Amino acid sequence: MNDDLWAGLVDRFADGAYATVKGRVRTSVIHRHLLEHLPTAPARILDVGGGAGHQSFPLAQAGYQVTILDSSPAMLDKARERLDALPEQVRARVAFLRAQGEHAEEAVHGERFDAVLCHGVLGYLDRPEPFVEQLCRCAAEGGIVSIMTANAHTTAVQPALEQRWRDALAAFDDRHGVVLGLPGRADTPEELGDLLRGHGVDPVRWYGVWLFVDWLEFSGVTLDVHDTDRVADTIAVEYEASLRDPYRAMSRVFHLLGRKASR
Ligand SMILES: C[S@@+](CC[C@H](N)C(=O)[O-])C[C@H]1O[C@@H](n2cnc3c(N)ncnc32)[C@H](O)[C@@H]1O
Repeated sequence: MNDDLWAGLVDRFADGAYATVKGRVRTSVIHRHLLEHLPTAPARILDVGGGAGHQSFPLAQAGYQVTILDSSPAMLDKARERLDALPEQVRARVAFLRAQGEHAEEAVHGERFDAVLCHGVLGYLDRPEPFVEQLCRCAAEGGIVSIMTANAHTTAVQPALEQRWRDALAAFDDRHGVVLGLPGRADTPEELGDLLRGHGVDPVRWYGVWLFVDWLEFSGVTLDVHDTDRVADTIAVEYEASLRDPYRAMSRVFHLLGRKASR
C-alpha cells in the first residue's frame, strides 16, 4: 500500500466521512460491540491501520491503553492533531507507531495485546492472509481480534442503489470495487472466520455495521448530523439491525470478533 495514497485522503476521510450521520453510526455501533467483548479497562489495545483514531480514541477515553499502528505519516499526523484536543489523561493513554501492518509483530517488539483491532483496512490489501496472521500473532492468549471490512455477499447493493444496473449485475460475482476512490476488495465473515481459526483465534460473533444510513446515502438522501435526537434514534435502530438477520447480513460491511485460544 502506497502511503501517499492516504496522504491525499486524510481530510476527506477523517473530517468528511466521520462527520456524517453514517460516520457516527459506524463508530457508535462498533464501540458498543467492542465493549461487549473487551476485558474491562485498563487493557492494552493495538489498532492496526488505526488511521486518525476515530475508533480507538473513544476507547482511550474509556480508560484503555491504545497503540495506533499505521503506515501513513499523514494519517498519524491527523491522529496526533485530533488527540491534542483531548484531555491530558486521555493523551497519556495513546501511543503511535508508524509501521506496515504486515510487520506488526516486529514493530511492537513481540508485545501481546488484550485486543487487536483492524477496521477498514483489509479491503485495501490484495490479500488478507498475511495481515490477519499478524493480527492474530499480536493478540495475547484470551485476547480479542476485531476486524471490520467489506462484505463480499453484498457487493451489488451500492451500484444498484446508484441505479448503475449493469455494474450491479456484474457486482454479484465480483468482490472488487472502489472505496474512498481507491481499489477495494471484499471478504466474507465465513472466509475471515476460517482464516482466524487457522491462526488460533476462534470466531466469536459477527455483526453488521450500518445499513439504513448507507442505503439512504446511496439513494441520494442527506441526513442532518446536527439533529442530535434524531441521530441518537438512528444509532439505536442501526445497533439493533447490526445484531439480527436478515439486516446484519445485508450490511455492506461486517464486524467480526474472535478470541485467541489459551494454550
Ligand atoms: C479507511 S482507513 C481506516 C482507519 C481506522 N481503522 C478507522 O476505522 O477509522 C485505513 C487506514 O489503514 C492504513 N493502512 C493501509 N494499509 C496499511 C498497511 N499495510 N499497514 C498499516 N496501515 C495501513 C491507512 O494508512 C489508513 O489510515
